[in-house]
Amino acid sequence: MNNWKHWRLETDADNLAWLTFDRAETGTNTFSSETLRELGDICSTLSALAKKPSGLTILSAKENGFAAGADIDEFTTLKSAEEAFAFTKLGNDVFDQVDALPFPTLALIHGFCMGGGTELALACKYRIADDGPKTKMALPEVMIGIVPGWGGARRMPNLIGAAQALDLMLTGRAVDGKRAKRIGLVDAATPQRHFKNAAKVLLSKPPALHQPAFKDAITNWPVVRGFVASASLKQVAKRARKDHYPAPYAIVDLWQNFEGDPRKVPQDHPYSISSIFKHPTTANLVRIFKLQDRMKALGAGTNVIKHVHVIGAGVMGGDIAAWCASKGFTVTLQDLEHARIAPAIKRAAEMYKRRLKLPHLIQAAMDRLIPDVKGDGVAHCDLVIEAIVENADIKKKLYAEIEPRLKPTAILATNTSSIPLQELSQALARPERLVGIHFFNPVAQMMLVEVVEGPQTSSEVMQASQAFVKKIDKLPLPVKSAPGFLVNRILTPYMTEAQVMLEEGIPAEVIDAAARDFGMPMGPIELADTVGLDVGLAVGTELAKPGGPQPKKIQELVAAKKLGKKTGEGFYKWVDGKPQKTNGSGTVDLAPLWMRMTLPAVNEAVACVREGIVVDADLCDAGVIFGTGFAPHRGGPINYLKSAGKEKLLAEMKQLEQKYGARFAADAGWQTI
Ligand code: NAI
Repeated sequence: MNNWKHWRLETDADNLAWLTFDRAETGTNTFSSETLRELGDICSTLSALAKKPSGLTILSAKENGFAAGADIDEFTTLKSAEEAFAFTKLGNDVFDQVDALPFPTLALIHGFCMGGGTELALACKYRIADDGPKTKMALPEVMIGIVPGWGGARRMPNLIGAAQALDLMLTGRAVDGKRAKRIGLVDAATPQRHFKNAAKVLLSKPPALHQPAFKDAITNWPVVRGFVASASLKQVAKRARKDHYPAPYAIVDLWQNFEGDPRKVPQDHPYSISSIFKHPTTANLVRIFKLQDRMKALGAGTNVIKHVHVIGAGVMGGDIAAWCASKGFTVTLQDLEHARIAPAIKRAAEMYKRRLKLPHLIQAAMDRLIPDVKGDGVAHCDLVIEAIVENADIKKKLYAEIEPRLKPTAILATNTSSIPLQELSQALARPERLVGIHFFNPVAQMMLVEVVEGPQTSSEVMQASQAFVKKIDKLPLPVKSAPGFLVNRILTPYMTEAQVMLEEGIPAEVIDAAARDFGMPMGPIELADTVGLDVGLAVGTELAKPGGPQPKKIQELVAAKKLGKKTGEGFYKWVDGKPQKTNGSGTVDLAPLWMRMTLPAVNEAVACVREGIVVDADLCDAGVIFGTGFAPHRGGPINYLKSAGKEKLLAEMKQLEQKYGARFAADAGWQTI
């Protein structure tokens, strides 16, 4: 029976069949057409047996998880809507075969169980998950602009109720094993080492199938369905516009009107697989997903860092230290006095409670995070991350003190937002060991970390830094050291233009609405208040172009200590963490406003690519999206330029230049992009 490339089927002495998913030539299980066809073939073989197994357990041979979903490489080679539909139908048909097997079936889930992985598990009669935090079950299709098309949108609502299932499908959020058990997604959560036993016990006496609790079951009733759908759509509308992101709307429609089965949706329907496949957002989101993989690969080298010493326990340093300790590193955290370290330790404890959940994991992370006022860690660490005040002289003074104490192999990294490494390395004996490891705020949420290469930084230090960033589960983006590096440099002219518009009398609400109309997750005025006007002013001043605008209002607000959200007032007044917006955007035509704000950012992105700040346009787009949230459905500034049409945007730039001056002059890079 064993002639399948990606699956191993064995039957034990108790007549239980064990089907191990072990996709050939890769470390991660994903579903290609070939793996699906083989699974279908296995189901046919098992169904046709004269002596059928008394149960079947499906498990994964891969260390990292059960299955990571559909093979995205195959997905991106699909050439037509017909091929996309055929791929969807294949997965659906095969998982239906699993569902129809005439004996009890069980999925044993550890690690990643995403998309198709969860859909296969749902097609089994029972599910057991590893109870550790590494288990991640999700239907994250919405994040790449598609719908859970292999039965997930059908089986998950039936199993756990539509309200919970829609919440998971519309956010793409993952649940760990314990939570999966609580919501009824799995029948049991137990350590992976007990899997075999647990499977044997369950299949030797199969219990009744899980039924959703009454309060969950009624959400699927036809009379209640409409209410659930409209409540979900209300939530969706807060986060995503239909024309920007059709997938979440399609998911609700699929569940409400087509029993969660995409095979039943007419192909000319606006939410059919064909329509979604053809929508530009889908291609853009899939591209971003792949760029994320490309960035991960940039950190593929061996990590040589074990002990990290963070200097500066403020907003950034404190959170960087906490994050690194949560990822298994020993971290010493230094600041001028203990009173400045204590709040960071408190924040870390709160973060660990939220993220690590299990008491022994929280305790272990706390044990790894060591306050170190004297800076003893400097002499023992493999990596220093300096996150003290943004002042070149103070930073240089600190380096002069610590450099002689560092191990020869240690790396000295700065988290500076805007000071070029050229300047910081001036007084160093070994400038080749200085690198920028530039995190974004808030550290726990922002995926991107710029790894900044100064003219003297050695390639070994770059590689080691990139591997370290990957090891802490962030996305490393190598960039050259020039003012603002990549992300802040591109963001600054956009933020500045928004403030110039504000000073011209355009209301903050209108400016913010215009940016959101373009697809930004938050408008620039609200963003400035959120980041802190002192931080924004420092970066804006450092990166201001000679002769360029220098907005006054932000200077006045900072002088008056009105720093935005953190002080309760900035451009907006803030109440309970929310900006008080007085007016909506009314009937103003928002497109010219967002054009005026976003074109300076696009222009700067073009300049960065031309100057080689980042290795190519794709990584430029990825950096801006993961560093700033730049309208993901547009695929980043350069992709936007290409899809909107270079000539059209150049004509817009020309008009803006005539009206507002040289800051809208097109960079020379437009000729070659
Ligand atoms: P912060 O003001 O919150 O924290 C700085 C900390 O450094 C303070 O606790 C201070 O006591 C400590 N410190 C100052 N001199 C020191 C010294 N000689 N030895 C030990 N500790 C010292 O500043 P924040 O916002 O955390 O910024 C730190 C660095 O990170 C800056 O270079 C900034 O440009 C950069 N950054 C800031 C971002 C932000 O959004 N705040 C984002 C990305 C980078």
